[in-house]
Amino acid sequence: MSRSLAEPWRLGGVSIPNRVVLAPLAGIGNWFVRLQAKRHGAGLVVSEMVSSFAVHYRNERTCRELLRIHPEEHPVAVQLFGHDPDVMASAAERVAAAGADLIDINMGCPVPKVCKTGAGAALLEEPERAVALARAAAGGSGLPVTVKLRSGQRPGDVSGLEVARRLVFDGGVVGISIHPRHASQRHKGAPDYELARGLVQELPVPVLISGGLHTAEQVRRGFEQTGAAGVLLARGSLGNPWLFEQVLGRRASNPGRAEILAELDWVLERAVEHLGEDRATRYLRKFYPWYVEQLGGGRGLQASLQTAPTLAAARALLHGEALARAA
Ligand SMILES: Cc1cc2nc3c(=O)[nH]c(=O)nc-3n(C[C@H](O)[C@H](O)[C@H](O)COP(=O)(O)O)c2cc1C
Repeated sequence: MSRSLAEPWRLGGVSIPNRVVLAPLAGIGNWFVRLQAKRHGAGLVVSEMVSSFAVHYRNERTCRELLRIHPEEHPVAVQLFGHDPDVMASAAERVAAAGADLIDINMGCPVPKVCKTGAGAALLEEPERAVALARAAAGGSGLPVTVKLRSGQRPGDVSGLEVARRLVFDGGVVGISIHPRHASQRHKGAPDYELARGLVQELPVPVLISGGLHTAEQVRRGFEQTGAAGVLLARGSLGNPWLFEQVLGRRASNPGRAEILAELDWVLERAVEHLGEDRATRYLRKFYPWYVEQLGGGRGLQASLQTAPTLAAARALLHGEALARAA
């Protein structure tokens, strides 16, 4: 009998209603993007990566904005990155106090700014430190800890698999998310689901997969092929929270224009609530292209939205476009 993405499961003692997870997305995965994923069915949501140093030193904006958790988004994992176990323990304690249910540690980020500090994918070359960080996060927070990592640094390098084993057997990690692309690939190329399948079979804890899961069909195939405990939706969910419903078998159709515009209005309102009107006006420029693509809007609309001086102007452009199309 085939397994279902809609069935409940447990991760480190935390009950999760289904196996479809919002992936960590830097600069994007704040409380309202996570809440949106939840509204559309996500079983678990993971925050954007947060610097353990910024949290440890109580950076005001980091703590206020990135550790903000909405009461309706549970269960939620907060992802931390860093290289210093003491700092990780202190940050994890603060994350627990903020209300997270789980802590995820980033050991997959390929960005040089992160790796050159010894964090992210650089940890694939330092298994001892990786284990120390996982133990520190659990010790500091009392929460279950998971790790998201890559298969390796370069083509042919599978150091990520060995680090995953060490994290589970020596570091007490309760789950692994594997993005089976090597770090030098960044986000390009086909993920190696066979590698992921091997890890699923080998490890005694839930293994989740990430990478190339952009349509409901791709998600179902990846889940079947690897036998993973769950799937992480990342770029496929940008401007497309309906993907959660489709993957869960709750809807088959794509959203219509009215539905897309109503969803975008919800996002605009939450962004103002989060950042205030001025910052939201700039922040949302990142979001428009995803939704305009869903709307089938052209380059003209995309360009106008990028320079809209106020949210009222952006709204007028979006709804004006809708009216023009309906006419
Ligand atoms: C804009 C962007 C931001 C990301 N931020 C993070 C992050 O903060 N932490 C992390 O572990 N992975 C991050 N990732 C990686 C994704 O979680 C995911 O593993 C990757 O995009 C592959 O999945 P996809 O092919 O379905 O998009 C990011 C990816 C993108 C595109």
